[in-house]
Order: sequence, then C-alpha cells, then structure tokens
Amino acid sequence: MANVVVVGAQWGDEGKGKIVDWLSERADVIARFQGGHNAGHTLVVGGEVYKLHALPSGVVRRGKLSIIGNGVVLDPWHLVKEIAGIREQGVEITPETLMIAENTPLILPFHGELDRAREAQNSVAKIGTTGRGIGPAYEDKVGRRVIRVADLGDARTLELRVDRALVHHNALRAGLGLDPVDRDALIEDLRAIAPEILQYAAPVWKVLKDKRRAGRRILFEGAQGALLDIDFGTYPFVTSSNVIAGQATTGTGAGPDAVGFVLGIVKAYTTRVGEGPFPTELHDDDGQRLGERGHEFGTTTGRKRRCGWFDACLVRQSCAISGVTGIALTKLDVLDGFETLKICTGYELDGVRMDYLPTAADQQARCTPVYEEMPGWSQSTEGARSWADLPAEAIKYVRRVEELIECPVALLSTSPERDDTILVTDPFAD
Ligand code: IMP
Repeated sequence: MANVVVVGAQWGDEGKGKIVDWLSERADVIARFQGGHNAGHTLVVGGEVYKLHALPSGVVRRGKLSIIGNGVVLDPWHLVKEIAGIREQGVEITPETLMIAENTPLILPFHGELDRAREAQNSVAKIGTTGRGIGPAYEDKVGRRVIRVADLGDARTLELRVDRALVHHNALRAGLGLDPVDRDALIEDLRAIAPEILQYAAPVWKVLKDKRRAGRRILFEGAQGALLDIDFGTYPFVTSSNVIAGQATTGTGAGPDAVGFVLGIVKAYTTRVGEGPFPTELHDDDGQRLGERGHEFGTTTGRKRRCGWFDACLVRQSCAISGVTGIALTKLDVLDGFETLKICTGYELDGVRMDYLPTAADQQARCTPVYEEMPGWSQSTEGARSWADLPAEAIKYVRRVEELIECPVALLSTSPERDDTILVTDPFAD
C-alpha cells in the first residue's frame, strides 16, 4: 500500500492546503509530523472555508482519522480553541477521529513570550518567526525539560516537569528582564486543560502500525517547506523542526518502510516570509505583480510575502534531500501575462558556477542567480484541467522545470478550486 508524504519544497506557502485536501479524500489516516500552529492551511470543502493551524487537514472530512504526531509541538490552549472553532462550522471532532501522540511536547505560554521577547530584542537575533513559541518549545524538547502530553495525566509528574523547566526558564527570563513564571498558576492552568487534551492521547506509533496492517492508507502531512528545515534550510533563518520527508517517520513512529510516494509541493515562482537569504527575490514591478496576482499574504500572521522568480537550483536540492518522487506544481496561473519568465538554474560564486546553494552564510550572500529566460504566455491558464487547455509556452515552462529540478510533475494545480488540477500520476496508486 503506497502511503504518501506531502512536503513543501520551498519556503512554505506552496499551496499545500488544496493538494493535501485532495489527497486526504483518498487517505484513511492523515498525520501531522512536525511544526505546530505556525502553519496555516486554508481548505475549501463543499463551499465552506476552514482555516487550520495545528489540526491535520483530515479533520474536516468524515470517516478519517487525524493524528498529531510526536514531531509536532502543541499549544494545548490553542488546540482547544481551534477545535471549538472547527466544531462551530459543523465538524465533529472526537477521540475516534483525532489522536495526539502521548509523547508530543507542549508549547506553554512562556515559550511564546520568549519567542517574542527575542524577536523584539535586536536585529542580530531576529529571525522573523511567527511568535508562536515554536523554537523555544523545540529547544526544551532537546534540552530534556519539555512537558509532554502524557505528563498531564499525573499531578506529581506534572509538578516535577514544570519545576524542571522553570529552573532554566526563570534564569533566562531574568536575563531578558521578564518576570519569573507564576509556577502555581501555570500548574493550575495545565491541570484545567489536561482532560481536554488527554481524551485524544494515544500511542500513535502503535495505532499507525495497526492501521498499516489493516491496509489503511496514510497521508503524512508536512508543514512549512524544506528551505526552512532546521538542518538543511537557510540556517539560522529557519523553523526549529525537520521539515523534510524523513521527519514523517521520526515524527510519528511509523518506520521508514511506511513511506511510499513523496510528493513535493512546488510553487511556479518563489516566496518567503520572514528574514533570511532569498537569491531570486525581486524588488521591482515583477515582484510586486507576483505578490498581487498570487495573493501572497501569510495565513497565520498576515505578513506580506517576499516574491521572486522560480529557483530551480534550490528546488532540485530540496527534492533530493526529501527523496521527492514527484511534485505538485501550484499557482502556474499567477505567471499568466508575463512577457518573459526567468528561471534560476544555478549561481555564480566568486566567478565559479554552482549547481547548489552552499551552506556558509557569507557564500550564500555572494551567490548571484544565473537565469535562463523563457517566453511567457498571454492566455489564461487559470482553471485548466488538461494539458490541451494550456498554451504551448506554459507546457514548455513546466517541462523545463521538470528537467531542471530532475523530478517529474505528478499534479499541476491551476486555481484554488479542487477540480482545477491536471493529474499526471496518482500518488496513492499502488
Ligand atoms: P517559527 O516557525 O515561528 O519559529 O518561524 C521561523 C521561520 O519560519 C520564519 O521565517 C517564519 O516566517 C517561517 N515559517 C514558519 N511557519 C511557516 C509557514 O507555515 N509558512 C511559511 N513560513 C513559515
């Protein structure tokens, strides 16, 4: 049975929502494996718009099991609010339809405060985070002082865990000029929220093992994009989790043999939110136009996204690192009407041609994109549902993208509407 991993292959916001929704209809289980409520997916199902942050996309579809894996960091108060909002839209969420791994780390209020305090401090430290406490929560996980879902079940353990975390955090807060955390109030708040979270707690690794045995189809739903990966992204301007496809297994407890098809989501141009290198960024009318036509504003923070030409060199790198089987190319219609399109095929660094982005920050800064120009098209590609609906130049653009990234297109998305998709390969096909 081919299970599918969906990952972003750029800096996030590649249009995963629509593709994940399309795939989740075909899946039985939808599992998030990293990130937290820094993510934002907009789903349109039956005319209803759902905005999801921490919840897997499967929750809005009947009869699916949604899973929050241990690779996620979970803000329990946010989750309860998000569930309430989705319920108000008429969706049923129960312990039968939503499970949270018992070993999932929790984001606590002091993580968000620390995230925002650091961001406000000075320009040297600034990453341009979503301010949701994602980084500090992951730091605590690796620092062996995080509070996990299972800890909510026992009063004594919870106190010990809080005290352990506060030894570190109160010292840090003093340095940043923040008041110490009110220990007792925090424990009280955690006790109050505990039953709401614990009802969904489950040994997810085991649930997945049983589902696989029963021949159920699993969709591993990634958030953000490979260039924000903690190891392989444009460090330090990255998120604090592994975003690439390998994380689907460690972030859920499903073994590597659970993964069949890796679908990389790739936008036909490039965007980025927050600080950090972006070799093909445009500061001219073309960039402005991509932003306007593509509605490039963040779902989570509403921030304006930086826009630029398609960087085939970076996507080739992302596809290799995630072992992408095929890509879903999104937002091709945003390129309609450009007379000429540019694709970055590599970089020039101190007079030397590079076919990958080097790791050293100073070298990244000196890399200038090498572009290939292609003729644009004047016709609209919006809503195309077959290759025959596309102008010849658009097909040439897609074919050139495939060649340069060394990966085939499995799906082509031509509008936010779910049916406006050209299917080349069904990732769930055996
Ligand atoms: P954090 O994940 O909030 O720590 O933010 C770290 C970096 O990742 C910042 O540049 C954010 O803008 C970026 N980021 C986090 N989540 C997303 C996302 O879902 N889409 C795009 N960028 C994101």
